[in-house]
Amino acid sequence: MDLASMQQALSERRQQQLHRNQFAMQPLPDGMVRVQGKDYLNFSGNDYLGLAQDPAVLAALTEGAARFGLGSSGSPLVTGHHYAHQALSDALCDWLGFDEVLLFSSGFAANQTMLQTLAAQDERILLDKLSHASLIDAAKHHAGGFKRFLHNDLTSLHQLLIQQATGKSVVVTEGVFSMDGDSPDLAGMAALCALYQAPLLLDDAHGLGVCGNEGRGSWQQQGLAPAQLQALMANFGKALGGSGGFIAASATVIDYLRQFGRHYIYSTALSPALCWAQQKAVQLCRQDDWRRERLQQHLGLFQQLAQAAGLPLVASGSAIQPVLVGDAGRCLALSQALKEKGIWLTAIRPPTVAAGKARLRITLSAAHQPEHIRTLVAALQELF
Ligand SMILES: Cc1ncc(COP(=O)(O)O)c(C=O)c1O
Repeated sequence: MDLASMQQALSERRQQQLHRNQFAMQPLPDGMVRVQGKDYLNFSGNDYLGLAQDPAVLAALTEGAARFGLGSSGSPLVTGHHYAHQALSDALCDWLGFDEVLLFSSGFAANQTMLQTLAAQDERILLDKLSHASLIDAAKHHAGGFKRFLHNDLTSLHQLLIQQATGKSVVVTEGVFSMDGDSPDLAGMAALCALYQAPLLLDDAHGLGVCGNEGRGSWQQQGLAPAQLQALMANFGKALGGSGGFIAASATVIDYLRQFGRHYIYSTALSPALCWAQQKAVQLCRQDDWRRERLQQHLGLFQQLAQAAGLPLVASGSAIQPVLVGDAGRCLALSQALKEKGIWLTAIRPPTVAAGKARLRITLSAAHQPEHIRTLVAALQELF
């Protein structure tokens, strides 16, 4: 593309109030953040359990760096898979009850691999209309094509399954949707998939650590067994406080991905020091039920106050609590006004959400203090 076309596209983005800025953030304790010398309550992060700043996790990162070094210095099938990667993989299998896992440098890469490798050329991918960009982009490149079913709508999914020959669909959804915070009926979906012999692939980026026993995720909370999912994808960048992603599945599926998953084979393996810290985060996530309880208390307090204040909430029982604004320009102005009150709450605008569905997407964390939530709702009430 020539520079003039780029400038044209950029100025259109600005005119539509859709241009995005990037800030250098310095995380502080209690779910706060410092930006350009000013401290804010951060309600836009994904550190749901407060593990990103946990001293034991940070000590493990230091220990991991001392023992294993910064980089893996190789792709996993050459020299990049180290002791620390294996230890993290084993910890994930033990926690989640899947045979094996593969680690990826990002959840985005994990989703690309999951869809591009596991959907055969003569199978059609069926995915939820509000799926994350990493799933949509992978589906768009699929030779067998894709269709989107209405959000969390099993009837709509059923109609698409009927259109294909049995055994020729692959179904993809999320455990907790990133922009709406709601969840599908996973048990109903798994039953439907079984009926049409369609493998079910789940992205549980926002469910892992937060939902289910020991935080195993939304699938476990809804009573699914590992065998009902052909693959589970989740990442370390949300409740587990770090970065990277993984796919968990049966030994056969993982070996297939290991042999044919191009994002896995041709990419440098995660930092071993990071893997060592992630393993500590997994351990704390499993054992520290108090983090999930605290998050639930914050959620209860937020919903009670927000409902009393009459805020236009999108129905969600998760740590993601969107306040619907609609117009992108208004959403941006509200976000700016909140900043002036010491609250960091990013305006989520198209194309991340559909046109006319701009929102303030609040994310709650166990790291917050109840007082922060009161301050947030009072500020929103004043602005709405
Ligand atoms: C639902 C969902 N899937 C996948 C991803 C991508 O994960 P990562 O940020 O680790 O690349 C994200 C995060 O942005 C997400 O919200």
